[in-house]
Amino acid sequence: MIMGYTVLAGYKLISFDKIPSTQTYALGMVATGMARDHTVILANAQSAGRGRYRRTWVSHHGNLYASFIYDADERDPRLSYVVAVAVAETLMSFGVHPKIKWPNDILIDGKKVSGILIEYASRFVIVGIGINIKTNPTVAAYKTTKLDNYANVERNDLLNKLMRNLDKWRRTDFINVRARWMDLAAGLNHTVKYRGDTVELIGINENGALVLRDGTRYVLAYGDEISM
Ligand code: BTN
Repeated sequence: MIMGYTVLAGYKLISFDKIPSTQTYALGMVATGMARDHTVILANAQSAGRGRYRRTWVSHHGNLYASFIYDADERDPRLSYVVAVAVAETLMSFGVHPKIKWPNDILIDGKKVSGILIEYASRFVIVGIGINIKTNPTVAAYKTTKLDNYANVERNDLLNKLMRNLDKWRRTDFINVRARWMDLAAGLNHTVKYRGDTVELIGINENGALVLRDGTRYVLAYGDEISM
């Protein structure tokens, strides 16, 4: 059941206590013609939170779970860097020091504190963001942490700053996004696996492609093609 409709920082906010997934709800709005640019679906908890690679995003009460709907005429590989920088900058405004693990996991002390899921549907993009504030799940694939271990963060303050940062970084020239992403990236100049080869991660180019170095050869990669 919807708990509230509010307008906040230029977004129409639809909030719930617990739903299966804010992301799935937003996709449903697109399917039924109800989606509008700058709408946010927010939940206190999710019973079927979704992560990348069809993983489950464990979503107990106490954390931030939000899906942001924006107009999108076409897929934009640069958006995942824009969102990662916006989330990292938001966390920095609370005094923590996150790093971005390609393409857009947000880590503190090498442990995942936030995940981003970007999905396109019809003429919209849905940016799903989960940030661990009060609880962090135990996950087999990676280490996790929560903001409470580092700073005193109130969920609505976090949401407010996140909305402003998403707008700010979406408006920023990609050359500056890219520079900020490179400052904050973990693992630059380290080796990663790409199509079975061990290559060096150099950075991202002006189109949002990953630049990899294989010996003396430079290779561009998109999507989820590398692993660390
Ligand atoms: C990842 O695998 O790192 C991405 C996790 C994305 C989780 C968020 S929480 C809000 C939104 N609703 C979902 O079901 N997933 C995203």
